[in-house]
Amino acid sequence: MNKDQILSLQNQYVLETYARDMLLVRGAGSRVWDADDREYLDFTSGISVCNLGHCHPYVTEAIQRQAGRLVHVSNLFYNEYQPQLAAAISENSFGGRVFFGNSGAEANEGLIKFARKWGNEHGRYDIICMNDSFHGRTLATLAATGQPKYREGFEPVTPGFRFVDFNDLEALDKAIDGKTAAVLVEPVQGEGGVVPATEEFLSGARELCDKHEILLLFDEVQSGMGRTGKMFAHQAYGVQPDGMSLAKALGNGYPIGAFIVPWKWENVLVPGTHASTFGGTPLACAAALAVFEAIEGNDLLFNCRKMGEHLRGALVKLTNDHQKLNDVRGMGLMLGIVADEAVAPVLAAARSKGLLILPAGPNVIRLLPPLNVSQEEIDQAVAIVGESLEEL
Ligand SMILES: Cc1ncc(COP(=O)(O)O)c(C=O)c1O
Repeated sequence: MNKDQILSLQNQYVLETYARDMLLVRGAGSRVWDADDREYLDFTSGISVCNLGHCHPYVTEAIQRQAGRLVHVSNLFYNEYQPQLAAAISENSFGGRVFFGNSGAEANEGLIKFARKWGNEHGRYDIICMNDSFHGRTLATLAATGQPKYREGFEPVTPGFRFVDFNDLEALDKAIDGKTAAVLVEPVQGEGGVVPATEEFLSGARELCDKHEILLLFDEVQSGMGRTGKMFAHQAYGVQPDGMSLAKALGNGYPIGAFIVPWKWENVLVPGTHASTFGGTPLACAAALAVFEAIEGNDLLFNCRKMGEHLRGALVKLTNDHQKLNDVRGMGLMLGIVADEAVAPVLAAARSKGLLILPAGPNVIRLLPPLNVSQEEIDQAVAIVGESLEEL
């Protein structure tokens, strides 16, 4: 089928919930190709999904192998890979038990249900979330998302969520009351503009949750799986949560989401309280296990930190040289350049020069290259960003 035929089907049959205009057909490592065989350096990684780059051989091999062995069995049965993957998530985080779903929103829904179930047993139900956060597009995760624009038109909003400013410990302290069950935080806000939590805020939130004996929950859907130079962003802060969601890069593009709770909370969700037909299939878990093997086997956390420093240094230089840029923020290879005005024209110019980058809100350029990106690829991308800044 040619490009025009494909786009004609798209325009007739696919609901237009996304603004998009580019047909990508192939990917390898840090690069993708469009239907006209034009090559692009992909510094979006599917919005922090393909953290190993496109079509990583470990993941491709695992999917191919498992697709011929066993794709799906219901969760009424054990499968070989679910416990192995749960162990990998547990060993790479704070230790505990895992539930598997299929997306970031589903992972957060599970985490919210965990908090409600725990809270109900303690006479509490409210979850305090952060302004400018993003937790997904299902009704409960929308209600937890601190950006009212996403909720407009979908009222009534699911009750039980309140908001405070991110990184405002005093506001959090004031907001916690006898009905509060949990505090939900992205250690690095992604969609909200690539904003890391301050150390004071994250450790202060832990202290407040301990003091009030409530749960601290981290959404690591975007910041997890090595993106910030640690397997999970919160590990850089030395603060441990009572539950964490992950998805996106867990399968490097094969859909899988999960949440983990420490062993001390293993009896909150018991048989019959939560389920998902496609959660933790042998195929999804085999793909995700290959992701852990690749990150560990290829020392990708180290490469992420090293390349992150290199990229940050180059972006800081661009920022110093450009009047309309005022900050570079983020961690590892999750970086944002903050501008004084809308960055959409810069993204369009970069794309025309062969580089894909993202916004994070109207004024922030977000760069999310794969963790195995090379210095040459970073230099090439930074040169294109530099040229594209003329659009500001
Ligand atoms: C921090 C965070 N949480 C949750 C989600 C929702 O994930 P999904 O689109 O897989 O439902 C996203 C997606 O961007 C995210 O960045």
